[in-house]
Amino acid sequence: MEEFNPRKTPWQIDEADYYEIESRDEQLRFLLRYAVLAPSGHNTQPWSFRLTPDGIEVFADFERRLPIADPNDRELLMSLGAAVANLRVAAAHFGYGTTVLYRTPREESVPIALVALRETCAPDTSLSRLFAAITRRHTNRQPFQEKAIDESALAAVVDFMEEHAATMVFVVPHDRRHVADLVAAADRVLMSQESFRHELADWIRPNESSALDGMSADAFGIPGPLSALAPWMIRRFDVASSHAAHDHELAEQAAGLIAVTADDDAISLLRAGETLECLLLLLTLHGIDYSFLNQPIGIEEMRKELWSMLRSSKPPQLLMRIGYGRPVPKPMPRRPVESVVK
Ligand SMILES: Cc1cc2nc3c(=O)[nH]c(=O)nc-3n(C[C@H](O)[C@H](O)[C@H](O)COP(=O)(O)O)c2cc1C
Repeated sequence: MEEFNPRKTPWQIDEADYYEIESRDEQLRFLLRYAVLAPSGHNTQPWSFRLTPDGIEVFADFERRLPIADPNDRELLMSLGAAVANLRVAAAHFGYGTTVLYRTPREESVPIALVALRETCAPDTSLSRLFAAITRRHTNRQPFQEKAIDESALAAVVDFMEEHAATMVFVVPHDRRHVADLVAAADRVLMSQESFRHELADWIRPNESSALDGMSADAFGIPGPLSALAPWMIRRFDVASSHAAHDHELAEQAAGLIAVTADDDAISLLRAGETLECLLLLLTLHGIDYSFLNQPIGIEEMRKELWSMLRSSKPPQLLMRIGYGRPVPKPMPRRPVESVVK
């Protein structure tokens, strides 16, 4: 058998293998191979799972928190919601109906979600249609072409966003420059904080690393030989102004900017993460790339300023750009299912 490669193996799933499996537990573990491909802040993968007779319990792994970048666990909770979304999409593809019961996290030993699964001959097609995108979805931080989103793809994205109007909103073109200014201003504040840079550096890996989590330097455009120095450079140097200029350009030249909005309580954030992942999968199906520019949301005044532009009753939780980029160099690593099942 080929050796486990954290950046390759998790993304290469042969769905035909599912039909060879006889035990229900093994089938559920197979579904979890899709769940762990969900995006997560800094690729922390803050989840674990337990199989039960009714389905799958999902637990938050608070040891994987980001206390500086994500002090309120906003991104941690949305990442868990994204994993639940992948699980539901895969379950629908393989003929299960799912219902999710979320709980406010209190203790790590209590699940934040129970995903109940039952076999059905009429799985939810709004979920199963997203299945093919799970193994193809990647966050793409490279510059995008100056090209508008294709008309039919845009129509599908707009439809989805209208269906989830409380959770997703486009930044109107008139506000684009203002939002780009906010992203750059927030970058200047955050990247000049040593504690923020140190935490980020803790999750950046050299390109050839065999780590099972974190982000490899090539995702940030740092080439092979230099990548071993990336964590050290981030820790050591205040790169706030170059970072700010770069992100300003990314925000200004994107084909669209989308804010994810939700109330600040845990259950709203978990649900927003589910909807987010469904949007990311839909974008992927249509060949649209995306990355995040959440920086203003991490600074309360700037978050309020952004909110005032959104014409949304709920506060912003994430900010994304969409467009068309070059393929990502390599997928990000994942921990294997065996290490996240209790
Ligand atoms: C809730 C959430 C917040 C994120 N925030 C950022 C961010 O601020 N900046 C960024 O570059 N990527 C962000 N990401 C993307 C993650 O870094 C990415 O999902 C992770 O590295 C795994 O890579 P993949 O999405 O290509 O699988 C975020 C992802 C999620 C789910």
